[in-house]
Amino acid sequence: MSDVRKEPSLETIISLAKRRGFVFPSSEIYGGFAGVYDYGPLGVELENNLKAQWWKKMVYDRDDIVGLDSSIFMNPRIWEASGHTKNFSDPMAQCNVCNTRVRVDKALQAIGIDADEKMSEEEISNLFDAHRSEIACEHCGSKDFSAVRAVNLLVQSNLGDFTEQGNSPSYLRGETCQGIYVNYKNVLDSTPVKIPFGIAQIGKAFRNEISPRQFLFRGREFEQMEMQYFVAPEDEMTEYKKLREYRWDAMLALGLQEKNLRWKQHKNLVFYAKDAWDIEYAFPWGFDELEGVHARGDYDLTQHTKGSGKPLEYFEQETGRRFTPHIIESSGGVGRLFLAMLVDAYREDVLNGETRVYLAFPPSIAPVKAMISPLLKNKPELVEKAREVYTALKKDIPQIMWDDNGNIGKRYRRQDEIGTPFCITIDFDTLGEKPELKDTVTLRDRDTATQTRISISDISSRIRVGTLNKGI
Ligand code: GAP
Repeated sequence: MSDVRKEPSLETIISLAKRRGFVFPSSEIYGGFAGVYDYGPLGVELENNLKAQWWKKMVYDRDDIVGLDSSIFMNPRIWEASGHTKNFSDPMAQCNVCNTRVRVDKALQAIGIDADEKMSEEEISNLFDAHRSEIACEHCGSKDFSAVRAVNLLVQSNLGDFTEQGNSPSYLRGETCQGIYVNYKNVLDSTPVKIPFGIAQIGKAFRNEISPRQFLFRGREFEQMEMQYFVAPEDEMTEYKKLREYRWDAMLALGLQEKNLRWKQHKNLVFYAKDAWDIEYAFPWGFDELEGVHARGDYDLTQHTKGSGKPLEYFEQETGRRFTPHIIESSGGVGRLFLAMLVDAYREDVLNGETRVYLAFPPSIAPVKAMISPLLKNKPELVEKAREVYTALKKDIPQIMWDDNGNIGKRYRRQDEIGTPFCITIDFDTLGEKPELKDTVTLRDRDTATQTRISISDISSRIRVGTLNKGI
């Protein structure tokens, strides 16, 4: 990968994420479970902020897009019609010494060979065979691999299947958008939308990834934020360009640094796509896919018309014309965006002679907007006043935190490390030791570590202006 980024390392981010309660490995006390993660108390707040901002951008800011929350389980025929039961696979080989599985296209890419997603199993197998001597098992170093075989990524379940052999599987959805396609008619018939219009959805998706890796980047259970936009065939490419620009602007509005973003067009298209571009982010291992913006043509609705036997055409009242809408989509993973935000925000500087780590989150996505604390926790009068300020503020701004652990310097460091934009301290001046400062507090800024005094009555609006309204 080009432009490899060195700092922060992925290990630094994983360790901070665990230490501070952003992300825990799933089932950790049982030795973990590959490709699955749990979001901790701060992680769930950050995640909610990212999802809320996506929803605002993709639904509330638009008159032409509505929301949906479709089920994870669907009639298995949907996955046959969509092509997933047949085509949604990755090529795999297994190390004959230690049984570690490799994803063959990624292993070939790692030695600079582009494996075409459209290649047949035989073609990719031949390509792998031709380069066996250059590919070593990442676990034991052996070059002795099994033959290549295609592994379907759909996760099967026995929901509704009472045959002992399990031969009528249902699937956990492999992408959220199929729930949108099969509800396209319902939305059309129940709301005033007219083409062009979009349907947006946030929800879990599941894939039996051969080698889940890079923390939240490639998991087996993850969340997608997808918007499917239904257009007249002749407008597909114009709308596709507009959507790409809209999504790029959304990334910048979130606060990601432009230098860490770039576009990449797919050379090799997956089975449903007509054209595909990725927004890539400079992850610690280099630029890699953050979100995809795809032109899917009439593939999806045509397949579901065939599969269900139900017509999914659109009737254009103005012209009396009927057509199958074409679809363009934006599809991003919550986990990938979450990881990009952590990496983007990570900073180290030197403060009072000591190295300090802080997360320079854009305030609107920071999981905690402000920390409130009494200067000393063994002074009841300070604690009482601080509690009063905290309780009043929490009604207005729920994402605030009480912290009276350790000395004030330690508390500031802890808040810096979780990216809290403001720390508010109640001291003796708040109580009127200097009468002119009565009912004022110190407000410390995370990025500059400077403190100013503001009135208690101004705290809420100061934090609102500084956090909730910024950027988005
Ligand atoms: N509906 C189109 C679709 O699902 P995709 O490129 O397979 O396209 C879209 O996935 C996005 O979903 C990716 O850009 C990525 O952000 C996220 N994603 C896909 N697979 C993932 C995985 N195994 N773990 C985490 N995120 C994933």
